[in-house]
Amino acid sequence: MASSNVDALFRPFQLKSLSLKNRIVMAPMTRSFSPSGVPGDNVAAYYRRRAEQEVGLILSEGTTIDRPAARNEPNIPFFHGEAALAGWQHVIDGVHEAGGRMGPQIWHVGSVASFLTDWVQDVPVESPSGLVAPGQPRGEAMSEEAIADTLDAYARAAADAKRLGFDTVEIHAAHGYLIDQFFWAATNQRSDRYGGATLKERSRFAAEVVKSVRDAVGPDLPIILRVSQWKQQDFDVRLANTPDEMTDWLAPLVEAGADILHCSQRRFWEPEYPELDGPEGLNFAGWAKKLTGAPTISVGSVGLSGDFMGAFSGESSTPASLEKLVDRMERDEFDLIAVGRALLSDPAWVKKVHARDETSLTDFTKEALTELY
Ligand SMILES: Cc1cc2nc3c(=O)[nH]c(=O)nc-3n(C[C@H](O)[C@H](O)[C@H](O)COP(=O)(O)O)c2cc1C
Repeated sequence: MASSNVDALFRPFQLKSLSLKNRIVMAPMTRSFSPSGVPGDNVAAYYRRRAEQEVGLILSEGTTIDRPAARNEPNIPFFHGEAALAGWQHVIDGVHEAGGRMGPQIWHVGSVASFLTDWVQDVPVESPSGLVAPGQPRGEAMSEEAIADTLDAYARAAADAKRLGFDTVEIHAAHGYLIDQFFWAATNQRSDRYGGATLKERSRFAAEVVKSVRDAVGPDLPIILRVSQWKQQDFDVRLANTPDEMTDWLAPLVEAGADILHCSQRRFWEPEYPELDGPEGLNFAGWAKKLTGAPTISVGSVGLSGDFMGAFSGESSTPASLEKLVDRMERDEFDLIAVGRALLSDPAWVKKVHARDETSLTDFTKEALTELY
């Protein structure tokens, strides 16, 4: 890693009741270490270790709302029910004792099956139109009643996050899961008010989720909304092909109450509309901030040589320069940067970067996925 001045990453950040000591966010990463949906002491210790070593904001692994088919792996944690919430209480208390800040990422997988296990829910899978990808049926189309119940389930999870003392809540609306299946025309063919020919119309479900979460947490707790152009079903899909389409997509969600947009890319340095501002142009988070005025989080291969989907097929990555990241953050292109695998394999990654202890940064290897440390 070439040495660069990393001060831009270590400026404080303040929004509503959220106060962060630096700009580095631990990206949400499913770990599947919560038997029966309950995060135990090992999960609490895993997050606490990152809080102890200077991570500014921790976003939890995806943790599911109270809908029967919300998860697609057996050891994904619930964010409902007494036992799971007691586990999360232990998590947030440990993070706070270590001086950290944290929000749960609340999640419903829609009709996406896990690519890591053969496990399937013993209840019907649900999605906007009973599809998982273009022309690929999976599960049932949700009734209006199922949608209303799902909105309530998001609200209850958010209210519980606040009650337990979490500092923010992130809604997972990315990567081809339930909310993203409403955005995507290929998986949303509904003829009621949750469907439609335009992205703006297909954003209605997400806007209602955000509104119900806002009603549940009150005005001061920041709500983060995670979105992506790409889908795990197809990396090349783009919801918004122009800035105007991006405005139609994201502005109503900010209007509905999303405070921070978490713009998921696999490589943060890739420009979103290079035809408009060149090969070094604004990335997704940069455009989202420019078009909506909301603060944004960027993400994707920070500090590592390869992108994250390779991790699931066993690929390793070596440490990479932070120079391009620092340049973009010095220009305030986006406000916060999320780091996934580098923090998964090394709980001390932020501390080492801050101390410019570059020689001790380690490779990411597939072994990091097999245990919690
Ligand atoms: C093991 C693993 C699990 C992940 N689980 C989630 C998840 O639950 N929710 C989510 O929004 N993204 C998830 N992601 C994506 C990460 O949040 C992040 O966007 C991605 O890893 C890119 O960041 P990186 O290149 O720094 O690893 C996961 C990534 C990995 C490697």
